[in-house]
Amino acid sequence: MKETTMRCDRTPAWQKLQQHAQAFQGFDLRTAFAADAQRAQALSQSAPQVFADLSKNHVDAATEALLQDLADQTGLAAQRDAMFRGEHINVSEDRAVMHWLLRQPAGSLAGNLAAPLAQVHETLDAMLRYAEQVRGDAQITDVVNIGIGGSDLGPQMAVLALQDFVLPGKRFHFVSNVDGHELAGVLKGLQAEHTLFLIASKTFTTIETMTNAHSALQWFQAQGGQDVARHFAALTTNVAAAAELGIGTTFGFWDWVGGRYSMWSAIGLPVAIAIGAAGFRELLAGAHAMDRHFQSAALAQNLPVRLGLLDVWYRNFLHYTSRSIAPYHSALRRLPAYLQQLEMESNGKRVDRHGQALGYGTSPVLWGEPGTNGQHAYFQMLHQGTDIVPMEFIAVKKPTHSLKDHHELLLANVMAQAQALMLGKEDAGGHRHFTGNRPSTFLLLDELTPASLGALIALQEHRVFVSGAVWGINSFDQWGVELGKVLAKDIHARLLSGDATGLDASTAALLQRLR
Ligand code: F6P
Repeated sequence: MKETTMRCDRTPAWQKLQQHAQAFQGFDLRTAFAADAQRAQALSQSAPQVFADLSKNHVDAATEALLQDLADQTGLAAQRDAMFRGEHINVSEDRAVMHWLLRQPAGSLAGNLAAPLAQVHETLDAMLRYAEQVRGDAQITDVVNIGIGGSDLGPQMAVLALQDFVLPGKRFHFVSNVDGHELAGVLKGLQAEHTLFLIASKTFTTIETMTNAHSALQWFQAQGGQDVARHFAALTTNVAAAAELGIGTTFGFWDWVGGRYSMWSAIGLPVAIAIGAAGFRELLAGAHAMDRHFQSAALAQNLPVRLGLLDVWYRNFLHYTSRSIAPYHSALRRLPAYLQQLEMESNGKRVDRHGQALGYGTSPVLWGEPGTNGQHAYFQMLHQGTDIVPMEFIAVKKPTHSLKDHHELLLANVMAQAQALMLGKEDAGGHRHFTGNRPSTFLLLDELTPASLGALIALQEHRVFVSGAVWGINSFDQWGVELGKVLAKDIHARLLSGDATGLDASTAALLQRLR
């Protein structure tokens, strides 16, 4: 990409935001609402499938205006457009970043993107035909996805989230950990003739997935299973490696799909089997609608832009180091884990895209659990602890069950938490005192459907893009996971041989204990 951007901490807007943050020290949400009758409205907006209330955040109109200046001065729109043109913005791996192309309607692009888009749809059609075939195959009752990181978290999160749309009679299992307890536990309840294994790995070299895949194949054969072609499929960019393992049924994707952005590709096959071809197309369409919004809405009314800039404001100027995700819908219980990888693997970087060390913070720590469970566990710290943790509540207006009272109670709780964090409670300054003025964002879906889930996830992808672009980092590589892989290989050999030569004293002592 042609360098048109300025390092964020060298921009005039950055200096102004620092001054603004100082002047902002006395900011109080209660006073801000009292002073501005329009605040709730001005800091709320709709985007495809998602309504967002940002008004309980530590921002005002001046903050948003300065953040918009920061976006302009760091060339955010140009960086976004470069991604949507297919430029190689993942510079350390010299790759384009085109997960968005996976949800682009067929035939809708010309020029250099027409051919990749045609390939996307060819593969999508084949994968969805296969998904329908599996759905119609009554002999297959259990689908086991073997994959890790982006080859696990997305499909696992989505199959759970869309459980109301899942075909009855099929069970879905997700095995990611190299810890054999996980695979052994799943296999215990299975029969080879009724099981389909999906080996999901972009690279087809990941040690956890390869170890689990080998064990699954051995188990299948030991159970008398013979038809590997019917009971195993590989989802990968490395079709040759899958063939070497004896798996001929493969669905491919491309190096321009990052692992944590891959649930829209063949990696989404478990989702397609679970909710069907039409449901999967709705998921893609929901995400595409958010892509369009991100590409075309004015930056001041662009939800991923506003959220991503808020993330920068909190991280670099108010120095809030984490964000807690609270989905008030039990089907979204794996969403915090999914978002953790999305944000922290993308933006957990200490150098800019040229490899120069940064002088400012990047990815916050993301964590969370579904509400109301978190309320009875760690919300104490959120209300009365010494650190300010911006919350992100996610609620769904319409339930799909008809149990009396539950949903109203659930919604009452999510609203009450956001309110309590903001309002606090005076109580003579002791144990029962709540300072209030604690920030939260409230995202609301009308219903949890494939389309709304697609939009919600694309929103999160793009907000991560926005903060990463402003920070000037490469959000699309993940070199930080490599060192541990290399060392594990060395220690594995030492565990087998007992050779502790050259090890640090702590690791050597642990090695002796573990042998
Ligand atoms: O741990 C790093 C990582 O490469 C993630 O980025 C990725 O999602 C995961 O491992 C799995 O990789 P693969 O799909 O190639 O097995």
